[in-house]
Order: sequence, then structure tokens, then C-alpha cells
Amino acid sequence: MKVVVLTGAGISAESGLATFRDADGLWEGHHPEDVATPEAFAADRSLVQRFYDERRAGLGRVAPNAAHVALARLEETLGDDLFLVTQNIDDLHERGGSRRVHHMHGELGVAWCVACDRRTTWGGTLIDEPDCPSCGTAALRPDVVWFGEMPYGMDDIHRALFSCDLFVSIGTSGVVYPAAGFVDYAHAGGSRTLELNLERAANSDFHESRQGAATALVPAWVDEVIALHAARA
Ligand code: APR
Repeated sequence: MKVVVLTGAGISAESGLATFRDADGLWEGHHPEDVATPEAFAADRSLVQRFYDERRAGLGRVAPNAAHVALARLEETLGDDLFLVTQNIDDLHERGGSRRVHHMHGELGVAWCVACDRRTTWGGTLIDEPDCPSCGTAALRPDVVWFGEMPYGMDDIHRALFSCDLFVSIGTSGVVYPAAGFVDYAHAGGSRTLELNLERAANSDFHESRQGAATALVPAWVDEVIALHAARA
């Protein structure tokens, strides 16, 4: 059985990371467009670098939760038949044990040099405008995809969506495209679709929708899939 799982900020909420669309509409005190656009970076580079530096440093204070760990367990069972794509820029899937993670919105733990186009694993800060380890130019930015930029790996994601048997969306509000449209691609490819979220998402056109906390819903669903897999083997 081929499964595509899409995750969003809701899967990391119980680890203590803020989601984007909380009641006040702010992301850690900022309007997303003030920190997550190329225009914002051009207008106030220090503000944006500091913002992502704080998020990067914050990763050390949080840990993966039962939902991340359950998806790693699912990967152990399904191997390459699980395609895990996340909108999250945190590293909690990897730290939960997942090995094949498609970060469509990039990663906090990577710096991108816009002078030489190299990517470097990055644990420190960028506010101090350090030199790129590859070319020596002080032109590093967080390797995160901002509004108006092209998400990563879309060809592979579309291929996976069109050829899967089941598409599962976890902890995402379904308002930001292209991820919000994945359910339509999955339907077009003939796959079954399932939503696991605290509340129904904006694009809730799924065959099945379960409401609740990710740490409860995801392990229970993973147990179901593993049992089904064992029964078919
Ligand atoms: N368990 C399950 N779902 C949860 C939980 C939880 N514990 N807590 C919150 N949620 C749900 C919320 O109900 C909401 O529907 O997670 C969703 C989070 O939505 P957003 O904050 O909009 O996050 P996301 O969908 O990942 O945002 C998409 O928008 O700002 C951009 O690039 C950014 O990747 C991000 C994209």
C-alpha cells in the first residue's frame, strides 16, 4: 500500500512549537508577511535573520512527540511506500526517527548561500552575517521557502500523490497552497483521503475526517495501517 502523509504545524504543536494561524493570527508575535517573504528580508534583513535564529535556537528546547514517533514506526513498516512530506521547517520528524522526509518549505537547520547556491547544515546564528563556508561570501539566508517562493520537490510530490492508495493530511489548516491542493491531486489519482486534525481544515474535502490531538490520532491510525499491512502480508 502506497501512502502519502502531509504534515503541518499542528503535528508539532504538542511539542511546544507555535502554529501559524493561532487565534491572534500572529506567528510568535509577528504577521507572517513581515518575516516570511523575500520583500521582508530585503526591507529588514536583521529582523528576519533574528526571527529565524530564534526559531532555530528554540529547536533545542523541544522534543518530538508521539505523533512524530508513530510516523517513524510507519516508515519502518512501509519503507519506500511511505512518502512523508512536511510543510514544517523544524527537525522533529527526523529526531522522531523518520529517515525520508521531504521538507517542501525548507529547513531551519540549513543555510542557503545566495551567492554560490550551496546549502550548509546550520546550527548557529545568521544575524551576524557569517561567511558561506563554500565561497566565503556573507550571503547566507535561512533555507526556508517564503510566501511567493517555489516550494521544493513539487515534481516528486505530485508523482507520489498521483500514484498513492491513501493520502493523509495531519495538523494543517489547508489554507496555504500548493499543499492545500494535495487532497485534490490525490482524488484525481483515485486515492482515498483522510484528515487528522484538531478541527476540520479549510479544504476539508476528504473521504474521512477525524478530529482530535495529533498525539492521540496519529499513533492510533498508524496502528491500524500496520495491522492492515500485517494482515495482507
Ligand atoms: N493536533 C492536531 N492538529 C492541531 C493541533 C494538534 N495538537 N494543534 C493545532 N492543530 C491544527 C490546527 O487546528 C490547524 O488546523 O493544526 C493546524 C495548523 O495550521 P497552521 O497554523 O495554518 O499551520 P500550517 O497549515 O502548517 O501552515 C501552512 O503556512 O505560514 C505558512 O509556510 C508556513 O508551512 C506553513 C504554512
